[in-house]
Amino acid sequence: MPLKIALLASGNGSNVQAIIDSVQNGSLDAEVKCIIANVENAGVLARGEQAGLPTYCVPNSGLSREAHEAELLKVLNPLEADYIVLAGYMRLMTPLFLNAYKGKGHYRIVNIHPSLLPAFPGASAYEDAYEYGVKQAGVTIHFVDEGLDQGPILLQEAFARYDDDTLETFKSRGLAVEHRLYPQALQLLAENRVLFRYNKTAERYYVEIKAHVPC
Ligand code: GRF
Repeated sequence: MPLKIALLASGNGSNVQAIIDSVQNGSLDAEVKCIIANVENAGVLARGEQAGLPTYCVPNSGLSREAHEAELLKVLNPLEADYIVLAGYMRLMTPLFLNAYKGKGHYRIVNIHPSLLPAFPGASAYEDAYEYGVKQAGVTIHFVDEGLDQGPILLQEAFARYDDDTLETFKSRGLAVEHRLYPQALQLLAENRVLFRYNKTAERYYVEIKAHVPC
């Protein structure tokens, strides 16, 4: 059975596009139940409509975080998504939303972050890593919890920062990694290969990926 996913984004939606493309070309065994943007005129809305997928704008302006999440849940609840996929969704979730997607020891919500977490959390990770002068940057796909960019890591991939990089060349190399890594991470969920383990020393859950057994 395909993984049922709902995609949430705030902006351009190039990651949403990469996920849609992967579903369409058969490399990701998922069904996109809907695309939701919280910003009117977000580029992602046109992408969803273009793909013929149920696409909604649920603006947050003027609403408390909980009131906005209640509006989101009105759209999402009937769709019974297995996973909420945050793709450039620039808002933190409150317990109201998290608890609507409780899994076993984790929430059924994943996010993409453009750094090798736990380095450079927050909204300007590319800029922060570039300015810091890292030699290796990267992309993280992680489960969402109550913290900012803190949940268990599902996949990470590094990429080099070259001496002659501008912020633009640096970012565009990172985005290419993002577009490959997110569908790959979702495919691990679709194949049911993601196990949660508890590390007593670190007092946190971490993820183990089950080996792929060819049939
Ligand atoms: C990506 O860099 C993502 O990692 C970050 O916001 C950006 C969104 O880009 N959280 P797009 O809207 O998917 O093009």
